[in-house]
Amino acid sequence: MTSLFDPLKIGDIQLANRIVMAPLTRNRSPGAVPNTLNAAYYEQRASAGLLITEATAISHQGQGYADVPGLYKAEALDGWKQVTDGVHKAGGKIVVQMWHVGRISHDTLQPNGGKPVAPSAIRAKSKTYLINADGSGSFAETSEPRALEKAELPGIIEDYRRAARAAIDAGFDGVEIHAANGYLIDQFLRSGSNARTDEYGGSIENRARLLFEVVDTITKEIGAGRTAIRISPVTPANDAFDPDPQPLFTYVVEGLAKYDLAYIHIIEGATGGSRDHQQGDTPFDYAALRAAYKAAGGKAAWMVNNGYNRELAIDAVESGKADLVAFGKLFIANPDLVERLKDKTALNAPDQGTFYGGGAKGYTDYPSLDNVA
Ligand SMILES: Cc1cc2nc3c(=O)[nH]c(=O)nc-3n(C[C@H](O)[C@H](O)[C@H](O)COP(=O)(O)O)c2cc1C
Repeated sequence: MTSLFDPLKIGDIQLANRIVMAPLTRNRSPGAVPNTLNAAYYEQRASAGLLITEATAISHQGQGYADVPGLYKAEALDGWKQVTDGVHKAGGKIVVQMWHVGRISHDTLQPNGGKPVAPSAIRAKSKTYLINADGSGSFAETSEPRALEKAELPGIIEDYRRAARAAIDAGFDGVEIHAANGYLIDQFLRSGSNARTDEYGGSIENRARLLFEVVDTITKEIGAGRTAIRISPVTPANDAFDPDPQPLFTYVVEGLAKYDLAYIHIIEGATGGSRDHQQGDTPFDYAALRAAYKAAGGKAAWMVNNGYNRELAIDAVESGKADLVAFGKLFIANPDLVERLKDKTALNAPDQGTFYGGGAKGYTDYPSLDNVA
């Protein structure tokens, strides 16, 4: 029987086990440039089969929070090289989560203080995280966005292409396209944020058009075996809403089946909340989603996330429900999570107060088993 601790090859990437560190924004890269503290944090967690970085902006326009890293400046790419080198020396594998926040941003974070961009000029009932003049952090309402002109979309797709190439040049093993949690691609997918009347709005096919143009461009640039995607069919995160997610995401995974991607990453339920959360009248059927993907010829590894503990994760892989399990909060608090899950050792508890912003405290100072006295 396949175990959570068995190796797996996903696309072009060989993993030592099926335990994945989920993408986790930590707001500790001032100037959008990864630094030595960030490198130490990822290196500490390199025994994961795969590390997915925190969401990383593909362009200045794609930035929505203070002190999150980017993939669009030379200094940032040098910073990421330090991170990827450290992880590889420690025997790990790492992909970068490619991010365009769309409307989940603030004028003060945008080029020339302009409005954030979105499929439609519909403001999200959501918050972003800013750093105040005195250096303290605080949450603020997201700004009113403007609707993207159709003629601007090729430029955004080009930003994805350039960022994917830069990621591979900076030593990443691959990229994960962030199509989840109410950010730009998800804003196009869901009717609650997309009221367009051109070929990027209306029907499911139209709302998924941007996603497929991005996937197509990135897979051509770096290869499908180094490309992956994250979706969250029912999450209400960042005011994401669609009344009928099952046919929408079935169409998405059936289309993804045509590419030999490294993996498909599914957030089950409300991100960081109830796994049973639903949008629309019926519970979302994740098994049917996977069956539709396989029936369409899809062969990528299937990664699941949200509220997994040791028992649920072992069961997910042993039962064949998933190939990989991503852990978020448990990886914040346990740099050696793999060893702890293997040995069934007690886990450190995550400290929510240090999730976003700050320095080493609550970031690189969680003890691993070999430095506990
Ligand atoms: C501090 C924090 C930051 C997060 N940042 C991201 C992110 O950058 N990208 C993303 O897709 N999800 C992000 N998430 C969601 C996690 O990847 C994950 O889906 C969520 O924590 C549920 O998994 P868990 O129950 O194992 O923690 C974040 C969650 C937390 C707690």
